[in-house]
Amino acid sequence: MFRIIALATEITGSQTPVIKYNQQQVNTARSGTNNMKQGLHTRYPGISDLAEKAKKRIPHFAWEYLDSGTGIEDGVQRNRDAFSDVTFTPNYMQGRFEPDTATSLFGTEYALPFGVAPVGLTGLMWPEAEKILASAAAKYRIPYSLSTVATEAPETVGPLADGMSWFQLYPPHQDSLRQDLLKRAKDSGFTTLLVTADVPVGSTRERQRRAGVTVPPKLTPRMLYHVALRPAWALATLRYGQPKFRGLEKYLDSKDMQHMNAFMAKELAGTLDWDYMKTVRKEWDGPILLKGILSAEQAQHAAEIGLDGVVVSNHGARQCDGVPAALDVLPEIKQAVGDDFKVIFDSGVRTGLDIIRALALGADFVLLGRPFMYGVAALGEAGGTHTIEILRDDLKNNMIQLGCRQLVELPARLRAR
Ligand code: FNR
Repeated sequence: MFRIIALATEITGSQTPVIKYNQQQVNTARSGTNNMKQGLHTRYPGISDLAEKAKKRIPHFAWEYLDSGTGIEDGVQRNRDAFSDVTFTPNYMQGRFEPDTATSLFGTEYALPFGVAPVGLTGLMWPEAEKILASAAAKYRIPYSLSTVATEAPETVGPLADGMSWFQLYPPHQDSLRQDLLKRAKDSGFTTLLVTADVPVGSTRERQRRAGVTVPPKLTPRMLYHVALRPAWALATLRYGQPKFRGLEKYLDSKDMQHMNAFMAKELAGTLDWDYMKTVRKEWDGPILLKGILSAEQAQHAAEIGLDGVVVSNHGARQCDGVPAALDVLPEIKQAVGDDFKVIFDSGVRTGLDIIRALALGADFVLLGRPFMYGVAALGEAGGTHTIEILRDDLKNNMIQLGCRQLVELPARLRAR
């Protein structure tokens, strides 16, 4: 099979001749692009359509890594159930209007109140996913968050995101390593730092283990079989090469992924406490968000030590199956910290209406993890912009349905629960 893939790569990789087009041809091509976009909206109108397609396009182990929660996945269901319970009273009779979705955060104007959450081992799901998503985020003026354990380096992604990039830190034990990572992120144009609190240790992730997900991926005969069933993924991966933690490579003598695995377990886990965060505060000259907070008390503590906000999140129910739905604790956290301290929300958001729900319950901004990766895994290059468009269109449509011109009007439309 790989010989066939290699052959196909050689053929499609051949040099493109320079061709000149006349205006009519250009117009036809443009309307072709519009039709293609329209086609995407018909074939994949919702995030669930992208998930379905992604599942058919990437190998089983990559899908299980992306889609799974942890434990028996009560938390995944709990996250979703929390959204279904939030309803609104519409305010009709407003005439025609265009809702305003612009949102200012830490002095940056974002066109929409949502962005891309950090996702690690990204290239396992689709090669160059970070580049696709960072470019889409730059185009639509929304933030893109790069994980410490992403498969592209900050130096590659920062310029593509054009001022829209946030950097996620899994806190290293070594001060010098942390300082170097932060410097690289700053020098590459990352504006905002997310420090992840909710991974004190790796999680059990039973579905991933059953599927044989390992770092580095071990190509057992069973996995090869799963790869063979997914030729588009196999071809793209063969072209770009096996996923590597490009942001961390420079800290190892050898680029051997085997060392990388041991390095990550030793260097990045179980580091974080409040004193560590005080040090990070001194070292990062810019907004800092503590990610994975589920209690008002911890959010208040984050405010007291001079952080700028928290991300209320349960890591998409991937860490501990016994914590609350992030949406259920959002209102009490926002109430405890007040307006100046920012409360970002993620975990379980799948529609524009869900974004509205989180904003109405007190979030200043919303992030999504899996939906963007479903998009890229399903559609490759087109997946980044298409996912943003699905969410944007649903967000705007529902603002009109509810009669809200501005995002600040949303809380007033909430029905008491
Ligand atoms: C994550 N998440 C995550 N968070 C983080 O701080 N650093 C990371 O490297 C990762 N890696 C990662 C991989 C994958 C495959 C997923 C699905 C998630 C968590 C992520 O940032 C976010 O909190 C959740 O994805 C939000 O839940 P939804 O939107 O996926 O339901």
